[in-house]
Amino acid sequence: MYDETRHEGPAGPPRPHRTAAVIPAAGRGVRLGPGAPKALRALGGIPMLIHAVRAMARSRAVSLVVVVAPPDGAAEVRNLLDEVSLPERTDLLVVPGGETRQESVRAGLDALPEDVTAVLIHDAARPLVPVDTVDAVVEAVRDGAPAVVPALPLADTVKEVEPAGRPGEPEAVLGTPERSRLRAVQTPQGFDRKTLVRAHETIAVNGEGATDDAGMVEKLGVTVVVVPGHEEAFKVTRPLDLVLAEAVLARRRATDAY
Ligand code: CTP
Ligand code: MG
Repeated sequence: MYDETRHEGPAGPPRPHRTAAVIPAAGRGVRLGPGAPKALRALGGIPMLIHAVRAMARSRAVSLVVVVAPPDGAAEVRNLLDEVSLPERTDLLVVPGGETRQESVRAGLDALPEDVTAVLIHDAARPLVPVDTVDAVVEAVRDGAPAVVPALPLADTVKEVEPAGRPGEPEAVLGTPERSRLRAVQTPQGFDRKTLVRAHETIAVNGEGATDDAGMVEKLGVTVVVVPGHEEAFKVTRPLDLVLAEAVLARRRATDAY
């Protein structure tokens, strides 16, 4: 439980410290198929984004949630979130996002007030992350890790290939990394705020931009650590993921009055 608002620095008086969660939710969800922007698609009758906001607000460490909305939908998202009851401790900001996830995260970071010292970046597309996973990430950051990612071992073996020119064409295998050394990373990823801002200011990523914030911090030469992720923190990417998410939610509602 992390409801304290101050902690002892290595020297001198207690340093005020505050954790915010930034939720990039500005993507279109092309892989999910036609329809509303992915974050606004319903899960158990409620937009996925609302599940994600509540998942962050459920952590007693989080006192601010910044939602990065589709650029043309910020007002709609604001109205939607005004209807949501959040704990007393939780402030909410909505800002417009950008063309890439990296730009959207940057927009969220730019909106953080001065007093925020630690930041979680959490995909709206991971609406069902359990609070224990959020707290484990926060705890590792508060223990001094500059960058923390929740991750799980892989079920499938992974091959590196030479990507084919056209979809569906056979691809030459270049190698097979040892599966036991691989982890599939999830969110929320947790950071010392200054470290993540420095990464966003100095690391340029071409094309679609960075899809992984921790990867940018690695490029600074800063150590990133992995903590255990959770099966239910999976990302809703393709239509089948929605089926799974509905099933997980139905089970929660049946068993723990969720
Ligand atoms: N995201 C964002 N801004 C973008 C692109 C993505 O805020 N320009 C967010 C998405 O809303 C999502 C998270 O980043 O919560 C992870 O991205 P992804 O799962 O790839 O979502 P989309 O980009 O929306 O989906 P797709 O790639 O299938 O279009
Ligand atoms: Mg995407």
